[in-house]
Amino acid sequence: MPEPFANEPVLELRRAPVRAGLSDALTQIDAELPLAVPVRIGDDTRSGDGLLSTDPGAPQRVVARAAAATEADVDAAVAQAHRGLGQWRAMRADERARALRAAAAWMRERRLQLAALEVRECAKPWLEADADVCEAIDFLEYYARGAVQLAEGRELLQVPGERNEMAYVPRGIVGVISPWNFPLAIPCGMTSAALATGNAVVLKPAEQSPGLAEQLVQALRAGGVPAAAVSLLPGEGDIGAALVRHPDVHAIAFTGSLPVGKEIIRSAAEVQDGQRHFKSVVAELGGKNCVIVSSDADLDEAVPAIVGSAFAYAGQKCSAASRVLVADPIADQLLERLAGAVAVLEVGQAQTLGTDVPPVIERAAQERITGYQETAARDGHVVARAQPPAGGGWFCPALVVADLPEDSPVLGEEIFGPVLAVQRVRDVDHACDLVDELAFALTGGLFARDPGTVRRVRERTPVGNLYVNRGITGAMVGRQPFGGNRLSGTGLKAGGPDYLLQFVQQRAVSENTMRHGLVV
Ligand SMILES: NC(=O)c1ccc[n+]([C@@H]2O[C@H](COP(=O)([O-])OP(=O)(O)OC[C@H]3O[C@@H](n4cnc5c(N)ncnc54)[C@H](O)[C@@H]3O)[C@@H](O)[C@H]2O)c1
Repeated sequence: MPEPFANEPVLELRRAPVRAGLSDALTQIDAELPLAVPVRIGDDTRSGDGLLSTDPGAPQRVVARAAAATEADVDAAVAQAHRGLGQWRAMRADERARALRAAAAWMRERRLQLAALEVRECAKPWLEADADVCEAIDFLEYYARGAVQLAEGRELLQVPGERNEMAYVPRGIVGVISPWNFPLAIPCGMTSAALATGNAVVLKPAEQSPGLAEQLVQALRAGGVPAAAVSLLPGEGDIGAALVRHPDVHAIAFTGSLPVGKEIIRSAAEVQDGQRHFKSVVAELGGKNCVIVSSDADLDEAVPAIVGSAFAYAGQKCSAASRVLVADPIADQLLERLAGAVAVLEVGQAQTLGTDVPPVIERAAQERITGYQETAARDGHVVARAQPPAGGGWFCPALVVADLPEDSPVLGEEIFGPVLAVQRVRDVDHACDLVDELAFALTGGLFARDPGTVRRVRERTPVGNLYVNRGITGAMVGRQPFGGNRLSGTGLKAGGPDYLLQFVQQRAVSENTMRHGLVV
């Protein structure tokens, strides 16, 4: 029996030897670039360079050369998963758990190199990169334990003459489709949950981060997951769409944007010729996350928490703060302090330890965010702007804007970049009304001292994760089960006690135990 779950401790970056270790790991990774990422279908591999991932901070640096999967590869990977499923689901839950925990140990041994690869492939600053690796390890450890518990089934009512049992059995083949912004943790979470419960996985990672997805598959296989039970299809959205359509796929685990999530839910609902089941879809989607600041809030606490939540990793977290709804009596004070805090943010390269705001993931993201920043500057009042350095990299300034018109897209749409809009509200109830108007309901924050205010907001909020008097990002596995409501997601919360239920079906067996005589 393994020890109870505990979160993997993050690195103590304040210690000089730890920082030296990071810089050595970066040198080592740089010497290995570009990484080769094959299409992996069972034991077969096919290399190629149809898909390149590049460093957002220096786009001429190629980080990974990946083979681009084709629709024929999707068919082959699903057929392989079908073969792998028999072997994998036949193993006991504790044997599968052992393989996942061995994969966690593989990552633990290489955590500095994995973090260094995140710095290069996704421009994650060290703190965030290390946290992502720790979260991936946490998912493996947490779901491994959870699946062993689930395999014990549930107690049912028993009456004389019958025996009733309820078991949780794997759904079958799970297509996992992941985003780039938590390039190890998110694909690892969805994949490990599916595997822990006995399913076979075909993983289609984000096109921006195939190098990290390859590390995940290597970890799982090194841990003892059979090759046929986890295949890797690097590719763009069309390969994800083909996986969703495939009639032999039983479930889709998707994390990404709302438009893609809607399309996946629509497509998965169509029963294809020859398909003998309904597909289930777990979809974790975007957000428009608001922080409410009550007139009694402690601004010493609120200002750094809001700045960190809005601008860490350049606002490219689904949980990032993008709107502040501040009570009118303290609005001027908050704006003045936010302006001071944001003006001194360091916009710079992810590898530099003092960087607050790294470059964004790619040119298209830079263009999209720049568009929103131009709209914000035209229609509102720019309160603060931290400028990026000159030179290469997909940089955007960090921007705080106030006084936008109520129908501004900056207030309603997910921007996924370093933009924070501040709005004055009459009071906390007015703020709750505005939050309630949104279709997104992922995370939210509240700064208030009065317990009555906290209670009221807790009752009214539609969001999946409400954070009170703290930052609104950084959910920890087992402590803050994570996921959105409304159009922010369909699923039970990741890193929580119910998540695995989405990867199983229930089977109830009722047996007549009255004696029927001996069968010979
Ligand atoms: N709720 C959460 O837990 C959570 C966590 C992280 C990111 N996100 C969201 O993810 C988004 C950012 O990630 P992104 O830019 O990678 O998202 P995205 O939706 O563009 O892409 C996600 C994945 O879907 C694939 N894809 C694209 N089109 C597809 C299609 N038609 N069918 C199937 N797959 C398709 C992509 O190739 C990628 O692998 C943001 O909206 C963010 O809020 C949500």
